[in-house]
Amino acid sequence: MSNKKVLVTGGCGYIGSHTIVDLIDHGFEVVSVDNNVNSFPHVMEEVERIIGKKVQNYTLDLCDFEATKQIFEDHPDISGVIHFAALKSVNESVTEPLEYFRNNLNSLINMLECCKQYDVKGFIFSSSCSVYGNAKELPVTEETPFEEAESPYARTKQIGEQIVQDFAANNPNTSTIMLRYFNPAGAHETALIGEQAKKTAWNLVPVITETAIGKRENMVVFGDDYDTRDGSCVRDYIHVMDISNAHTKAVQYLFGDKNSSNYEIFNLGTGEGVTVIEAIKAFEKVSNKKLNYTIAPRREGDVVAIYANNDKAMNLLGWSPVRGIEDIMRTAWKWEEKRISKV
Ligand code: NAD
Ligand code: WQD
Repeated sequence: MSNKKVLVTGGCGYIGSHTIVDLIDHGFEVVSVDNNVNSFPHVMEEVERIIGKKVQNYTLDLCDFEATKQIFEDHPDISGVIHFAALKSVNESVTEPLEYFRNNLNSLINMLECCKQYDVKGFIFSSSCSVYGNAKELPVTEETPFEEAESPYARTKQIGEQIVQDFAANNPNTSTIMLRYFNPAGAHETALIGEQAKKTAWNLVPVITETAIGKRENMVVFGDDYDTRDGSCVRDYIHVMDISNAHTKAVQYLFGDKNSSNYEIFNLGTGEGVTVIEAIKAFEKVSNKKLNYTIAPRREGDVVAIYANNDKAMNLLGWSPVRGIEDIMRTAWKWEEKRISKV
């Protein structure tokens, strides 16, 4: 088998669509699947415009095992799976926990079952820094123990990793990688793709750009009385194209048989913490716009600070993030401006 074909689940979504671009730029063939529960089918046309190639996309629910199997029947040469598909809203998971467990865990189990039945060489799982909960040490390494999950969503990622670990222990033919993303943000330089969820965005960067463009009247900073350099929370914002490139490197690592274990974990962050106020200032600098924001009380469930130790991904995957907070804000703003001009 040529180790060229990769199935990307959640390919119309935010990180999936950017990753398809990077994979194809690096010579991989891609098949995509998405049920568009949180994305739009036309995203794939924008991906195709960027790469100048057609991408086959299946529209189906990965919780449907028979439908999912058909992808592998059609493409027996799939050698790798990158499993992005999941519901990802922390707030919604609190009110709809069963839906989050049903969707995120059933789809994962079905994908692993297909990896087993169709002898797939490499499987990559989209995990999250939220598995660490309120970490007791910073920066967090892959060995930092999990604390209590702050939401049902975060719990689906903790359980998801454990499911993959148990699977890997009994399926030596499939090598698995957990990629724990910190705070992905920004958009492709062309502004043809970016973050475009069907559900309302509550993450900092889209809230900033939507406020600046006038979709929201103002925004709030949740807390300025934390024990940090300016009192606001610290996060590790990582550009979506850097995250995407890490997936390409992870696939190359698995296909190159460089792994000594068939269950590996990597943090994907820049290693730098940025406060909410610093993020806002970076936006104001690159957009030349003053942001209308006020200070509000702390948001329930927020950890004070979290950022990654990314040494393992740099050393073993040969990956390094090359974009910073200003690149994130510049590309996110370009994407927001382009979207408003289409309305
Ligand atoms: P997204 O919502 O933009 O993309 C996920 C895609 O999966 C969507 O297009 C959705 O329609 C699809 N999907 C969901 N359930 C499906 C199902 N049962 N069958 C088929 N398709 C389904 O989210 P994203 O930001 O691109 O996140 C991708 C992955 O990364 C998710 O697993 C998410 O939990 C994880 N993650 C995201 C972040 C972040 O801040 N964006 C951070 C850490 C981890
Ligand atoms: C960042 C900072 C807020 C909005 C979430 C998930 C996590 C992962 C990444 C998926 C915090 C502050 C935000 C606003 C603000 N996703 N903020 N005003 O909470 O770090 O992580 O996304 O796996 O699991 O929990 O990201 O973007 O919501 O918040 O002040 O209107 O911005 O308080 O300090 P978070 P976020």
